[in-house]
Amino acid sequence: MLINRCADDTSADSLLVLLREEDCNNIPEFHKDIREIIAVLVSRRDFKGKKGSLLRVPMVEGNMYLIGLGKKDKCTLKLIRDSLAWGLRTIGRNHGKSACVPLSHLKEYEGLCFSLGEAGGLCGYAFDSYKTKDKDYEPFSLDEIYSDVYDEKEISNGLKFADAQIFSRNIANEPGCSVSPEVMAEKARELAKKYGLECEVWDENRLKAERMGALLAVGSGSKNPPRLIHLTYKPRVKASKKIAVVGKGITFDSGGLNIKPDNFMLTMKGDKTGACNVLGILKGVCELGLNVEVHGFLSCAENMPSGSSYRPDDIIRARNGKTIEINNTDAEGRLVLADALCAASEIKPDVIIDMATLTGACVVALGKNRAGLFVNDDDLCSKLLASSELRGENYWRLPLEDDDISESLKSPFADLVNSGQRYGGAIFAALFLKEFVDENIKWAHMDIAGVDFKDKEYGVYAKGATAFGVRTCLDYLMRL
Ligand code: BES
Ligand code: MN
Ligand code: ZN
Repeated sequence: MLINRCADDTSADSLLVLLREEDCNNIPEFHKDIREIIAVLVSRRDFKGKKGSLLRVPMVEGNMYLIGLGKKDKCTLKLIRDSLAWGLRTIGRNHGKSACVPLSHLKEYEGLCFSLGEAGGLCGYAFDSYKTKDKDYEPFSLDEIYSDVYDEKEISNGLKFADAQIFSRNIANEPGCSVSPEVMAEKARELAKKYGLECEVWDENRLKAERMGALLAVGSGSKNPPRLIHLTYKPRVKASKKIAVVGKGITFDSGGLNIKPDNFMLTMKGDKTGACNVLGILKGVCELGLNVEVHGFLSCAENMPSGSSYRPDDIIRARNGKTIEINNTDAEGRLVLADALCAASEIKPDVIIDMATLTGACVVALGKNRAGLFVNDDDLCSKLLASSELRGENYWRLPLEDDDISESLKSPFADLVNSGQRYGGAIFAALFLKEFVDENIKWAHMDIAGVDFKDKEYGVYAKGATAFGVRTCLDYLMRL
């Protein structure tokens, strides 16, 4: 797809106009013919710019689409980005091939061009490879988008962000029967080959030799053995910073012997989203050619019940020597991350960021549109929040300190238990992870449970995997 500067005589078959309520009373400087049509629609009260309204107006050639952004003081870049994706998706579904999107009336929003690129790149996404009939819709890509606010670099960066997210979503959407830990390793190797990354994969024997007892325990119940994948990106010139990104890669979470009841097991193919995101982030880093050294760690296992599973009451030993008493095999994400966080700490990065669909408690606390953010450094936290704000992901900082919950981490027989009291489950998990991170390293933990998956499409999100976390992390890396 190409995004071009608007010319007066663009031959686009579709026109997409985003309007706030105020813009309807004082129509911006669009082409005269367009202004006239909008004026008529507004005077007939067919369109008032209400948030979430969409009007299709058939024209002599093609269609005009109007989307309402609501009141000016409530309108955000995030809303604009989602509306762009919605509008462009509607155009594609109506068999439009090209769109002209005048945006100069919105140019006060920083990141507008970037968002257009990102929305353009994401609007046609659909995971439909398994549908042989009755497809609700098929993926598409518009041939051309024209805009009068034009910044080539920003637009192309937005498109690269979109590609990074699509890369993650495509793997996250695959069911457990087609993506095992070894398949994750294959995906990592392919990526490494394409971009010249270093890629090291530890199989079950190597994991034993490397004392990755926690990851091995989680993987022990499945006939698909666990893998620890380490990808390294080194920029051409000497890097300013070294960052490690760690992802939870549970290719399916049945709960293990503490098996999940009925409905709770559904969507657990998405439990590898953290690791998929790490792959997407590395792709993005390569495409953007960032000047940071980035290490991706993917801790992959399948959590299954069987005769060889790890059990409740088992005591296992993580890579840093700490012992863990298992009191719930469904609290497996923190275990696979424990070993990976040790490995990440050992390479002495400036910052570690981990992302994981870690706790149902986080979903209970924050809902399905906001991820939990735990950070041991205020400066890192504000940088991540600034990136998330600009790129349209919502996070809420949660505490990494709680005497009461810390107390409940203690085991009578081992150093730690892997799950504690019922309350404050997301904080418990974060405090557990903290035990495996070198305390001299700045560290952020993103609990992306619940936000990883959408039941219906909305804005830039299609049905299924969202790749939530990729945008914030990539933006943070881009700014270093
Ligand atoms: N993968 C789940 C968490 C999850 C829940 C992700 C909902 C996405 C949506 C995780 O492994 C898990 O099972 N957590 C348990 C922990 C408990 C046993 C301490 C949970 O949150 O119930
Ligand atoms: Mn679980
Ligand atoms: Zn899990």
